[in-house]
Amino acid sequence: MAKSFHFSKASVLVTGGAGFIGSNFIHHILARRGFSGKVVNLDKLTYAGNPGNLAGARKYGRRYAFVRGDICDPGCVKAAMKRHGVNCIVNFAAESHVDRSIHGPAEFINTNINGAFVLLEAARELWKADAATRFHHVSTDEVYGSLGPKGRFTEKTPYDPRSPYSASKASSDHLVSAYSHTYGLQVTISNCSNNYGPRQFPEKLIPLMILNALEGKPLPVYGDGKNVRDWLYVEDHCDAIRLLLEKGRPGETYNIGGGCEKRNIDLVKNLCSALESLAPSAANAALRGRKYSELITYVKDRPGHDRRYAIDYSKIHRELGWNPAHTFAEGLARTVEWYLGNSEWIANIKNGSYRKWLEKNYARR
Ligand code: NAD
Ligand code: DAU
Repeated sequence: MAKSFHFSKASVLVTGGAGFIGSNFIHHILARRGFSGKVVNLDKLTYAGNPGNLAGARKYGRRYAFVRGDICDPGCVKAAMKRHGVNCIVNFAAESHVDRSIHGPAEFINTNINGAFVLLEAARELWKADAATRFHHVSTDEVYGSLGPKGRFTEKTPYDPRSPYSASKASSDHLVSAYSHTYGLQVTISNCSNNYGPRQFPEKLIPLMILNALEGKPLPVYGDGKNVRDWLYVEDHCDAIRLLLEKGRPGETYNIGGGCEKRNIDLVKNLCSALESLAPSAANAALRGRKYSELITYVKDRPGHDRRYAIDYSKIHRELGWNPAHTFAEGLARTVEWYLGNSEWIANIKNGSYRKWLEKNYARR
């Protein structure tokens, strides 16, 4: 009988596991009863990679390993795969911030496209067409372009990426799909909406606003603030990816979303209210008597700013029974509480000491 893939016992190469979603995913699966496999976190530790995000993973002993490396480096990728007997890759590694892609697209093309290509080639070479393997590619709803006031993205929506970031992700999605069709690689792809939650780098909307608000700095809302995003708590995204690895059909794409559309300005107002209840502005000297909402400042729009994203996640719901488990109010409160309770994590980013780990561990290599 042909061998089949069992995620619960897999040796999983998680790329980009020191970033926001990757680190949440690693914590999610290692803590899960029923997962007896191993996780190898391959991360280049760019500005977005933070070793502190995995501080708690040491307790898993030999079930967790960290490799500092670049997914664009075939030697490094193949060595990690051979050494750890990897039979599953979950590719989170990417340059992920749209604004950065507008100011400097080169690294997005390199990591997001060439890096995905290197991973696919390594999997093709080492796994051949072994059915007991899985390559899961984590992608974004931004590949579908921008919506008008009605409708939602389905898995059949034609790709129409409009920023260097989304174009690079679209390109990698096509490569992954091509390796499934051409070489029989066992792949799944997920296209997800905006995530929020613990450990998100404070360049993205929600953590940026939390940190600015607590310091009494302006809350910069792009354009008219009426662009719409569909928000998903990161733990729910991790749960969906795990389900796809357990039960998703190879060769298929699945949309993942929060069913939670918000105009940016409304989201920022919600956030100000959450902050008022959890860390009242009246008790914060940096606010000098102002409410958090008084910090909201409209600024110049992002070039090519997509107007609206909304995900139809009925396929993953129908096939695997997945639904987001957290309401936006719960997710937002948990997120604000996490940032309020992790001032050291924030300080380490602000003063750059989260990079010191690199100097200590890699200075003389
Ligand atoms: P992030 O920027 O927080 O983390 C990216 C991680 O990748 C970092 O740890 C970084 O060091 C690592 N990395 C970057 N280049 C690398 C390279 N060449 N080799 C190895 N590691 C490298 O990103 P995130 O928000 O956690 O997003 C993770 C993935 O999910 C990305 O592929 C992104 O496109 C996708 N995604 C993100 C969202 C979101 O809302 N954040 C939504 C949908 C999909
Ligand atoms: O949709 C999924 C995508 O969501 C992911 O693929 C990306 O990796 C992730 O970064 C995110 O992209 P966005 O561009 O939607 O996220 P960002 O947090 O940068 O912005 C969210 C919205 O808020 C967007 O409409 C721009 C706006 N914005 C953002 C920032 C940083 C502001 O108004 N002010 C800001 O300061």
